[in-house]
Amino acid sequence: MAIVKQSKKARRPKLEDAVVEIHGLSHEAQGVSRSQDKVMFVSGALPSETVKVRIEKEMRNFNHAKLLEIMNPSPERVTAPCPHYSRCGACQLQHLQADKQLGYKQSNLHEQLTRQLKLTDIPWQSPITSEDLGYRRRARLGVRYRNKVDEIIVGFREEANSHLTNIDACQVLQPSLSKLIEPLRQLITLLHAKSRITQLELIASDHCDVVVMRHLKNITEADQKLIKKWAQDNEVNFYLQGDEAQNLHCLWPIDLESQKLSYEVLGQTLDFNVKNFIQGNAQVNKAMVSQALDWLDAKPEETLLDLYAGIGNFSIPAAKHFKEVTAVEGISSMVGQIEHNAQLNQLDNIQAQVMNLSDDVLHQRLPKVSAVLLDPPRTGAAELMPWLAKQSSRILYVACEPSSLVRDAKALIDAGFKLKKIAVMDMFPHTKHVESMALFVKK
Ligand SMILES: C[S@@+](CC[C@H](N)C(=O)[O-])C[C@H]1O[C@@H](n2cnc3c(N)ncnc32)[C@H](O)[C@@H]1O
Repeated sequence: MAIVKQSKKARRPKLEDAVVEIHGLSHEAQGVSRSQDKVMFVSGALPSETVKVRIEKEMRNFNHAKLLEIMNPSPERVTAPCPHYSRCGACQLQHLQADKQLGYKQSNLHEQLTRQLKLTDIPWQSPITSEDLGYRRRARLGVRYRNKVDEIIVGFREEANSHLTNIDACQVLQPSLSKLIEPLRQLITLLHAKSRITQLELIASDHCDVVVMRHLKNITEADQKLIKKWAQDNEVNFYLQGDEAQNLHCLWPIDLESQKLSYEVLGQTLDFNVKNFIQGNAQVNKAMVSQALDWLDAKPEETLLDLYAGIGNFSIPAAKHFKEVTAVEGISSMVGQIEHNAQLNQLDNIQAQVMNLSDDVLHQRLPKVSAVLLDPPRTGAAELMPWLAKQSSRILYVACEPSSLVRDAKALIDAGFKLKKIAVMDMFPHTKHVESMALFVKK
């Protein structure tokens, strides 16, 4: 008898729509349902809601489902303030009351700490909160030219794909940056190079706003003239950046003094340039630096090691509290910026060093100090943990990724450190991101 091979399509059971309860919110800001035998993640659903869903992706241990209908909305559900929210991928939580978002983020971190570190009594401190709109001082927007309809799209990537959502404003951006979006689109429409513009970076320093326009190939003299005029009329500093990241030049203003960018933190001024990392939320940054110094509670004879120091965001204010600060950063131009900022603020007790902190051979060169502050990138500081675990200093960890913090905290706790204080910080309201600060001391 002939064996009839079934097509893959025919073998796959039909995925039924289902009505489920939502029990929690994941760290990706998706509703989590445990109503079925497998955990289900539902984008756009909130805890306590009953929703109708369609399973879209079946994984071995969980499913992803699409929200079809909210049958019983949560009292915490609100209409998103932004008209682009349903498509734009930059925010994930605008449908949840702004003052409830941080609570869920803290609960997720709490759950990871208790489950993975077996901690029972977590010393939570008050969170650092933020204005929920108009807070963001730096953003990268994609630009595409739609040839067929001669249209410029400016916006963030959509959640599910690489398409850009066309936006005319962004409510989480500082208003002075948001109001540049539409005029920038109109400017690009006039350029000969309109099909070669790929990205716009918007940065707010305390005294001026900056646009960095990324482009492919060269920009003609005529285009440059148009851009200069636009920058002058809109009173922004304007940089062009070619294919190579280092190929960056300031088109406007022409005098070097007016190109200076800076922000203030705890009464000190930090100069930076457009390539440097700066914290995305000025208000939260000030509160974060202040809290870090408060938790570290320095005695005048004590010394601090600031790892992943950037342009000295913590080092410069900390130098007023510690006898000596050693700032370590992987990018040499940023180390130069720390030295410049130390001079600018008349501080002679900061040593700045370039070091790749992922290279464990180099850690022996780090000095013994009274306290260590580390603020690593999202991936955390796994390579540094064996060295840190051997120290007896107080350790203050500033984290932008909870799972990295939990993993690195385990290394410290296994080495005899105690978690003394921890708090979440609302650096990016309406998004899934959460920052946190944890203080460890040797038992
Ligand atoms: C989250 S930022 C923090 C910067 C600074 N603490 C601040 O508050 O602005 C992380 C910094 O770590 C630096 N960095 C990343 N990987 C590094 C590495 N392997 N070694 C040294 N520095 C690194 C980055 O250049 C960046 O300045």
